[in-house]
Amino acid sequence: MYNLLKGKKGIITGALDENSIAWRVALKAKEEGASFILTNAPIALRMGKIKQLADECGTIVIPADATLIEDLEKMYQQSMEHLGGKVDFVLHSIGMSPNVRKDKPYNDLNYEWFLKALDISALSFHKMMQVGEKLDAFNEQASIVALTYIAAQRTYPDYRDMAQAKSMLESIARSYGYVLGKSKKIRVNTISQSPTPTTAGTGISGFDVFLDYAEKMSPLGNATADECANYVVALFSDLMSKVTMQNLYHDGGFSSMGISEAIIEQFQK
Ligand SMILES: NC(=O)c1ccc[n+]([C@@H]2O[C@H](COP(=O)([O-])OP(=O)(O)OC[C@H]3O[C@@H](n4cnc5c(N)ncnc54)[C@H](O)[C@@H]3O)[C@@H](O)[C@H]2O)c1
Repeated sequence: MYNLLKGKKGIITGALDENSIAWRVALKAKEEGASFILTNAPIALRMGKIKQLADECGTIVIPADATLIEDLEKMYQQSMEHLGGKVDFVLHSIGMSPNVRKDKPYNDLNYEWFLKALDISALSFHKMMQVGEKLDAFNEQASIVALTYIAAQRTYPDYRDMAQAKSMLESIARSYGYVLGKSKKIRVNTISQSPTPTTAGTGISGFDVFLDYAEKMSPLGNATADECANYVVALFSDLMSKVTMQNLYHDGGFSSMGISEAIIEQFQK
């Protein structure tokens, strides 16, 4: 414990169960002295265990579908009421693709579902910032973080349209990072996380294989959800006051690798 977030107020999206990256971030943020609200889509509130996390963190859950402006408006208003002021950090930890869920091949995508994936997984990030800015919900020098995956830069066949969603998400971080940086010295970054066994992660076919592959490729091994939470909390803190508009790899070195000895050995078998 370093009291890195002492006195800071925030919003954490996307905690569904104890495996969720957002769940781990909430526990770590609490440990570091932050107060925050939790939010998730109404359906996730019915299916998940978020109330349990809220009790553990001494906070409330505000239902909001991140694709709906009116839900986001209510979410910010209620957050500011509950927290007694504007927010210093926001975590966007939201992703879903119906084409991935339904195992549609990349050359037979359903375009309505494609648009839904972009809306939920990327545009919602823009909406969260635009609604927050319009309601004047952000403090100066706030830190906004979204989670992404290296399929935005490289091809992972089973990731399908989520690859485009993540590219858009990372691009939004740069464009909105400029706007909020100029107006309020707010930082906007994405963290490109290792494959992590969560509901969203394991929903991708072949997940176990690329979890194992990434583990064998990375000199430090895969980054866990708890390690990701540490990185998120560090980015929320004042120690990273000049880091913005970046896509930050948190992957044990995977993104810089060509091939590793472990992979060579595997192919020599
Ligand atoms: N798990 C991995 O391997 C991995 C790797 C890199 C990045 N990520 C990213 O991390 C983020 C968090 O995912 P996770 O792995 O913790 O899985 P998760 O399934 O626990 O979290 C995804 C969350 O998105 C929420 N969500 C879906 N639709 C929503 C909507 N319309 N409005 C509000 N919330 C909605 C879900 O309810 C869920 O809580 C996602 O952006 C994911 O793409 C995951």
